[in-house]
Amino acid sequence: MKNRILLILALGAAVACSKPQPQPFSVIPMPADVTLSEGLFPVKGAPVRMDSGIDEASAAYIDTFLRQLETVTGKTLPEGDGGFRFLVNPNLATEQYAINVNDKGVSVEASALNGFVYAVETLKQMLPAEVYGTAKARADWVLPYVSILDQPRFGYRGMHLDPSRHFWSIDEVKRYIDVMTAYKLNRFHWHLTDDQGWRMEVKKYPRLTEVSAWRDGTVIKKDWDSSDGIRYGGFYTQDEMREVVAYAAARGITVIPEIDLPGHMVAVLAAYPELGCTGGPYEVWQRWGVAEDVLCAGNEDVYIFLEDVLEELIDIFPSEYIHIGGDECPKDRWAACPKCQAKIKALKLKDHGNISKEQELQCYVTARIQAFLNGRGRRIIGWDEILEGDLAEGATVMSWRGVDGGIEASKRGFDAIMTPNGYVYFDYYQGLERDKEPFGIGGYLPIEKVYGYEPFEGIDPEAQDHILGVQANLWTEYIATPEHLEYMLLPRMCALSEVQWCEPENKDFDRFNASLDHTFRMLDVMGYTYCLDIRGKVGLDRIPARTEDDLKVYMETKDWQW
Ligand code: ACM
Ligand code: ZN
Repeated sequence: MKNRILLILALGAAVACSKPQPQPFSVIPMPADVTLSEGLFPVKGAPVRMDSGIDEASAAYIDTFLRQLETVTGKTLPEGDGGFRFLVNPNLATEQYAINVNDKGVSVEASALNGFVYAVETLKQMLPAEVYGTAKARADWVLPYVSILDQPRFGYRGMHLDPSRHFWSIDEVKRYIDVMTAYKLNRFHWHLTDDQGWRMEVKKYPRLTEVSAWRDGTVIKKDWDSSDGIRYGGFYTQDEMREVVAYAAARGITVIPEIDLPGHMVAVLAAYPELGCTGGPYEVWQRWGVAEDVLCAGNEDVYIFLEDVLEELIDIFPSEYIHIGGDECPKDRWAACPKCQAKIKALKLKDHGNISKEQELQCYVTARIQAFLNGRGRRIIGWDEILEGDLAEGATVMSWRGVDGGIEASKRGFDAIMTPNGYVYFDYYQGLERDKEPFGIGGYLPIEKVYGYEPFEGIDPEAQDHILGVQANLWTEYIATPEHLEYMLLPRMCALSEVQWCEPENKDFDRFNASLDHTFRMLDVMGYTYCLDIRGKVGLDRIPARTEDDLKVYMETKDWQW
């Protein structure tokens, strides 16, 4: 396989001397099967034929690509034969596609939207980076003759975003989804709630957006007693969330919303203090960490609240999976709360082994919410803490505290999604020179380590079918601007995409690294900020300069420095 890839690179370099030149083959993630041959297909003004059987969403996606090609090449692509042919091939799997470029033109085959999206994205990466822009480019673009048959290794290829610690507008979320699309990811995990801000409009509970969505300040760096004193927040209306769902769906991406429960709920308690064990008062958290105040699991009103919220949530999000959190729920309040203790007694929960009766109470909360969602045709995902104690069949575990959660879940017969912090926590530093990077949470996760992650490592061979896929998480405690967010995301997400998409024998860091040059040009044209540590240019010089006024505002108000 390595040899074949080297041959591909060599072919790209060889034809680089003649004119017109194709782009050296540098598609990320590397397609499963690629055979290049001699010959070039001129793209400008090529005729297009679309199979009448192509569904509306796929046709719309393809059409956007073709219009883009017209814009950048400056020439209409007329209807006709001998050029691009987009064909439905029902023998291909949903996410599979085939591209054949030869003397008959460019044929693109898929059976469904995702296959067509990935075929188009592969074609775009085979063209000069200007294809991602709006400016008219040099017109002599060519595609090399090639035969590609491609499909992903994992069905779940996720990227998470935390809009609670810092808020991201709908336009910023769409930009995030755009770059996920370019690298063939298909799940967007939207962490809509946390201690520092509730982000979802819920019609039945207006105080969630009046009170829980706003905090009176933000801690400065890690000076836990400090606050910048600046009111901060925001929320998404239900219409806006529906807009994101549709936007993602048009790109083959499912949005998985998360309501993190029963911990990480201080923002809710600030608005509805009666749902906490002590009754408060509480305020939307201004600092980071794990709060002792959580929902009172002994109060029936809490379950009514959660079910009401989830009822509105599932009306907005069609995803089969709903993430219900479950991480970092301290048990101090429950141990001291008469209502929680009465519930424990009524349920006859007992300490056993290293599982406390309060932990069993969390298992009860999980099971009750799971039953509610299952009754509405949905399934739960929870962080790996849900493995502590009993867990009902059908739950999916997100392994974040390393890989152990995934190993245990799959052994116990549960599906798992691998998001181990040591490999895919994109809030960690990317370089070793911390003073040259924006202030961050800590850790060290260079792109090489992301790339080297093997999701089946440690998983019993007979349990590997339970590993649905891989996701990276991007928590935003120390990330306050879109440029910084993108800097943390890119290009590590490109490495992630090969972990998610490529079979192990098709991965090759040197080939990937060489392909990054093209990715950097793509990202430049699209205007994304990215980290260049891998090219020896660390940190702050990658974040574009702002005006003096911007700079002053960020220096004064944000928890990290330019
Ligand atoms: C997590 O990082 N607390 C899931
Ligand atoms: Zn309680």
